Amino acid sequence: MSLDIREKTLWVTGASSGIGRALVLRLAKQNNFVIASSRRFDALVELQKTAPNHIQILDCDLSDDQEVQALPQRLADLTDHLDMVVACAGTCEYDNDLQLDLAMYRRVFDANFFALINTLRCALPLLAASRKPVFAALGSLSSVVPFPRAEAYGSSKAALAYFLESVRADTSLTPLRVVHIRPGFVATRLTQGNDFGMPFLMSPEQAAEHIERGLCGAGHTIDFPRRLSWPLRFLGFFSTLWFRFFAPKMTRIRALRKS
Ligand SMILES: NC(=O)c1ccc[n+]([C@@H]2O[C@H](COP(=O)([O-])OP(=O)(O)OC[C@H]3O[C@@H](n4cnc5c(N)ncnc54)[C@H](OP(=O)(O)O)[C@@H]3O)[C@@H](O)[C@H]2O)c1
Repeated sequence: MSLDIREKTLWVTGASSGIGRALVLRLAKQNNFVIASSRRFDALVELQKTAPNHIQILDCDLSDDQEVQALPQRLADLTDHLDMVVACAGTCEYDNDLQLDLAMYRRVFDANFFALINTLRCALPLLAASRKPVFAALGSLSSVVPFPRAEAYGSSKAALAYFLESVRADTSLTPLRVVHIRPGFVATRLTQGNDFGMPFLMSPEQAAEHIERGLCGAGHTIDFPRRLSWPLRFLGFFSTLWFRFFAPKMTRIRALRKS
């Protein structure tokens, strides 16, 4: 069963840059009505200028409970239903040298996990007004195997994965389709500081194309690129190989910190 994403009403979070922005541009070109949200108002205004009849903007910090309180009404002012939500908002910070800085973990979980719960809570009544609603969110292939330094980022994406599966189970008697999108490396603000080789790095436009193609299908998981997802899934299954051969090559820690 395939879905035609044309003349639909969608909400894309994390729309001011990277994958979310590329997805909004792509969807707007296909005659959809897209609500584009993120915190940076100016970046959203620039985005809206590219297709003013197809893009509406909504500036909001999805991890700020007070700002989120007003969001259901602000969304309802723009539309009476949502056919699809694609939650792209997120951040990445690494835990260098196993510092275990709780403030950093909270920042990452706020943007990657709690913001997603806020997104679904605000969207659910509007999704319920659509005949075939879709709720999709950006996880990461990093949650397939445990990467060194990714304790905060990978855990937040693993939490997101479980949350989506649980929502899928809970809504299995309803028309809601829940989709977990797991990209590999994409050249965006989020990865620009990475000081390691990123295999099969792709552009946000390529990522948006993969996402749209996957959303048009009927699946519940969209993994790309396959050249990365298949080996990682294999290593996730045979995790002894990962810990024996790959993790030791990637970790930068040679000794444990003493107080
Ligand atoms: N790039 C990759 O290689 C890669 C790989 C796997 C998964 N992903 C995931 O893909 C998603 C998009 O990332 P990206 O690579 O496109 O990075 P990006 O260019 O940094 O985009 C992140 C977006 O999230 C928004 N955002 C962050 N915190 C927010 C908050 N509290 N409230 C509302 N919006 C917030 C940012 O906008 P404002 O600053 O304007 O709020 C921005 O639009 C993320 O979930 C990321 O984890 C990325």
